[in-house]
Amino acid sequence: MTVRTVPYSDEILDEIRRGNSNVASALGANIHLGYWNDEKNPDLSFEGFQQASERLNTEVFRHIDLSQPCRILDVGCGYGGTISDLNRRGNNLQLVGLNVDPNQIARACTEVKPLARNSNTMEFLVGDACELQFSPNSFDYVLAIECIGCFPSRKRFFKQAYRVLKPEGKLIFTDLFFAGDLNSAAGLLALSYKHWFAFRQNRGRTTLPFTEARALRLLKGLGFSGLSTRDINRKTLPTYEFVRRLSHDSNGGLEALDRGCRLLELARERNYVIAKIIEARKI
Ligand SMILES: C[S@@+](CC[C@H](N)C(=O)[O-])C[C@H]1O[C@@H](n2cnc3c(N)ncnc32)[C@H](O)[C@@H]1O
Repeated sequence: MTVRTVPYSDEILDEIRRGNSNVASALGANIHLGYWNDEKNPDLSFEGFQQASERLNTEVFRHIDLSQPCRILDVGCGYGGTISDLNRRGNNLQLVGLNVDPNQIARACTEVKPLARNSNTMEFLVGDACELQFSPNSFDYVLAIECIGCFPSRKRFFKQAYRVLKPEGKLIFTDLFFAGDLNSAAGLLALSYKHWFAFRQNRGRTTLPFTEARALRLLKGLGFSGLSTRDINRKTLPTYEFVRRLSHDSNGGLEALDRGCRLLELARERNYVIAKIIEARKI
């Protein structure tokens, strides 16, 4: 399997290895856009950022019935931050994290797996979201937090998620959708983000940008129903300022992350790229 990882993941791991405790505390568990309660007056301290980061998980967990034992697959699980939060909040959960990048899985195995509690089990596996190695009808929930845009094909991932979900199981994901006009400056910025990302990651292939309408059509076409979508765009924006400061203090160690965030921030502030949480049920 060719490893196609996000361009900033190795630099985060390098900073952590170098002993950068700021990067470890900010990005060593979750690598996503967070969810700020007070986005107009955000608390940009490390604690404030960690809370925002965990709050995005909480917003996703609203779609899960954690009072029942269940089996949950977190696709594109990063360093295992979402699984770690599920482990803290639920009992009798079978938690499986999957990532294409062995280095991220290695960190999840060292930092998160030993913390299993509340009769939960945890597994972290290397694998590709578009070629899931699990039996049909084997998960109650499939989660994918801010990662589908990195996959080689949204359609193949949605198909795989449908296959591995039990009947009435749910796919819950957060995603960035393209909503802009390509003639505008922000639209062009969004597109250059796409090309930067594709160049760094998939040698020219990426599913960014993608419109929400197209994603919903794909899901419906595959048999998903009960689709619900929620706009969380404004709630995630303060993270860019936090990352800018973190990157500045890391003396160039987070160059890929910083560059990607700067492009994306401009496009997102103008609502040319928007963040959503989506739920889809397998009939
Ligand atoms: C923005 S990070 C989000 C990580 C995690 N979901 C979180 O919220 O902390 C995107 C993740 O998708 C993973 N990824 C990219 N392509 C993948 C693929 N084809 N299959 C599985 N994971 C993939 C990356 O390695 C990275 O960990």
